[in-house]
Amino acid sequence: MTKTVVAVDGPAGSGKSSVSKAAAKRLGFAFLDTGAAYRALAWHVLDAGADPEQGAAVIASLASFDYSIGTDPDGYAVHVGETDVTESIREPRVSAAVSAIARVPEVRTHLTELFRSIIRDTDKPGIIVEGRDITTVVAPDATARILLTASEEARMSRRSAELATESASDVAIALQKRDRADSRVVDFMTAADGVVTVDSTNLNFDETVDAVLDVIRTSQ
Ligand code: C5P
Repeated sequence: MTKTVVAVDGPAGSGKSSVSKAAAKRLGFAFLDTGAAYRALAWHVLDAGADPEQGAAVIASLASFDYSIGTDPDGYAVHVGETDVTESIREPRVSAAVSAIARVPEVRTHLTELFRSIIRDTDKPGIIVEGRDITTVVAPDATARILLTASEEARMSRRSAELATESASDVAIALQKRDRADSRVVDFMTAADGVVTVDSTNLNFDETVDAVLDVIRTSQ
């Protein structure tokens, strides 16, 4: 049986994580949140007291990066060594550090290899993989390739609703800063050749999941 691989890219706050997870659940597929791996490495660098802006220190920390991520869409845990970092990788200090480590080419090569091995080894009939460079670098041959977008306004308000403890303007500033930094490394705002754009600005959550499932069905 051929495994179905679904690649989903998009900016922060586009809903790609929750939408991909729900679509994977509906299809009985595995789910891989690649941003969680970049975040886990940022956490590891900060935990070691290293400076995420120093490429050499980030590369050195790869050697001790013992990382695991679950692929069950019903609930996955992220570990660095023995430590469960599932919650702590979402902290603002990690979000603020992650773009710097993600622009280091050695980091991208290392994590891309890891993602490809997870895709290869899944025992489910398919896997949905979401991030920034999945449609273009990690899995350019995926069965279905989707760019999930939403207007900046919609993305900001969704993210502020998620992070109710922070002020809306702090969330907006941090999100814009991260998108700007990330888009210098990978273009996740425009669809590459053969990639289908799903714009969720005027769709609710269920409608977005349905739109993604439609693309998957028509690509198979
Ligand atoms: O998806 P999420 O916002 O959790 O991703 C966290 C960070 O990981 C992004 O801001 C980006 O710097 C990095 N990332 C990446 N390539 C991916 C996934 C995430 O560079 N495929």
